[in-house]
Amino acid sequence: MGLLDFDAKPDGYGVMGNPISHSRSPQIHAQFAQQTNQRITYEAILVDLGGFENGVGNFQGNDGKGLNVTVPFKEDAFRLVDELSLRAKRAEAVNTIKINDDGSLLGENTDGVGLVRDLSNNLNFSLKGKNILVLGAGGAVRGVLAPLFEHQPSKITVANRTVSKAESLALSFGDLGEISASAFEHLSGAFDLIINGTAASLAGELPPLPDGLVTSATLCYDMMYAAKPTPFMEWGSAQGAECVSDGLGMLVEQAAESFKIWRGVEPETGPVIKQIRTELGGG
Ligand code: ATR
Repeated sequence: MGLLDFDAKPDGYGVMGNPISHSRSPQIHAQFAQQTNQRITYEAILVDLGGFENGVGNFQGNDGKGLNVTVPFKEDAFRLVDELSLRAKRAEAVNTIKINDDGSLLGENTDGVGLVRDLSNNLNFSLKGKNILVLGAGGAVRGVLAPLFEHQPSKITVANRTVSKAESLALSFGDLGEISASAFEHLSGAFDLIINGTAASLAGELPPLPDGLVTSATLCYDMMYAAKPTPFMEWGSAQGAECVSDGLGMLVEQAAESFKIWRGVEPETGPVIKQIRTELGGG
């Protein structure tokens, strides 16, 4: 680094959403930057509903280099960017934008990679050959199916309240591996992994699941995270699962993948997960 570079403005990043004040992303990226000696800023940006394109334009005008995108703008971002990664195409949603030097926007989706890394690296769960049940058929689930299939599970079943949405996902992802759709009440037999990607946990609710889906070896994973076990995690434990997890690890892992896309370096996620867990007041 030359003397002149030392005074250069740090590269600007941020996360856009509505609401956004609860976002942990600024803290996560600040820790990544510190760990890897990257001079960046990262801010939480509240964007008006319907104002996403404007928001991105302003951010670019201020020399911004990259954005995370969260609820409810991931589909807007998908439509706005100039170029899409394969994963973002499959997800039909963008959670990471890289602003290239020529001003063009590259759209990525790191949510599914975040989930898969949390499962494999942090929870030591190997997906290969596993029978997986995914609950929900909204944007969150669409974003994780392709990365799950990259790890060669034997089968994925998608169960949703509105079964037609699960059927449509099964149709769109059928070229990647064995996938079928189901109503909650028609599910039967035990699964190796059950992932809750419904928004039910947000409302403190649980999809109506029959007994018999869980053995002691089943991993029950909620894509949402909270200070306390979610209703889905409590259900998994009550059904006999020895391992249940919330989605804090997924959050930090998807952030790490975004950071790598922007900065070309891979931060360590373990200490960041640990710190947020402590702040949440959990184990
Ligand atoms: P997200 O981006 O979080 O996936 P979404 O696309 O609105 O949000 O999808 C929400 C998902 O949670 C859907 O699968 C929805 O089921 P429907 O398709 O039947 O609406 C599911 N969901 C929301 N509240 C739920 C509840 N109380 N019980 C079961 N499923 C619920």
